[in-house]
Amino acid sequence: MGTNTDELNNKYSRGNLLYEGKAKKIFNLKNRNDLVWVEYKDSLTAFNAQKRGSFLGKGALNRNLTALIYKYLGLKQIKHHLIASIESESLICHRVKIIPLEVVVRNRLAGSTAKKFKLNEGAPLKKPLVEFFYKSDELEDPFVSDDQALMLQIVETQEQLELIKAKALEVNKHLRDMFAAVGIELIDFKIEYGKNSQGELILADEITPDCCRLWDFKTGEKLDKDRFRRDLGNVEEKYLEVWNRLKDRWEKESI
Ligand code: TMP
Ligand code: ASP
Repeated sequence: MGTNTDELNNKYSRGNLLYEGKAKKIFNLKNRNDLVWVEYKDSLTAFNAQKRGSFLGKGALNRNLTALIYKYLGLKQIKHHLIASIESESLICHRVKIIPLEVVVRNRLAGSTAKKFKLNEGAPLKKPLVEFFYKSDELEDPFVSDDQALMLQIVETQEQLELIKAKALEVNKHLRDMFAAVGIELIDFKIEYGKNSQGELILADEITPDCCRLWDFKTGEKLDKDRFRRDLGNVEEKYLEVWNRLKDRWEKESI
């Protein structure tokens, strides 16, 4: 994305695989202990990987989307882990200790919470709702209350939970604006936080249509992973559409 690739390829040298998840691989860097190399895969999974798919170029697309969105958030003074884009599917990021908490912000009810309370999908909310889920494949990422998160020592203090909520709401404000400017309503999303070596909480992991619900303002059409989860078809086309709309509007301003 406008960076000098040869220069970056010389600067960062990929080391051993540290971790492989459903959608990403994380590598060490040979020459930098404080950074990691994050490679986005073409795979697409849902329902704790019970449903699997992929499309060619998805890794590069989600890499590009995450990079653009993080640059935008950076301009809004949101601290995040991204350093640079490298090759076509990878990012160089600060090494952080990921807090095993999925932080979900909802602007309208959809998905699991709509289902849980038998409320209409798309029901408006008076104010954005923040929910926490414990990041555990084995337990299938259960909902956790504040007290449960403290009991499980996912975070150390109630103050940290409050800080995470406030930070997530701030991210929501900026993401809503970013998407609204291209005719997309941000229904909900999931983010993660990591602790850097100074103990600071910073935004980490991806922000892509895999972890957001994005509806076209005019038509209500779904432009996110629900197309895959619910077999709605045109997954690749709609991910590409999100990228094209955001790129056309924001790429120049966010570099
Ligand atoms: P939910 O309605 O299934 O709880 O999902 C809320 C949002 O969080 C939705 O945008 C999808 C995203 N999400 C993830 O990114 N990863 C997950 O494991 C889950 C369950 C949801
Ligand atoms: N992200 C989760 C998975 O990959 C759940 C989901 O998105 O439905 O399994």
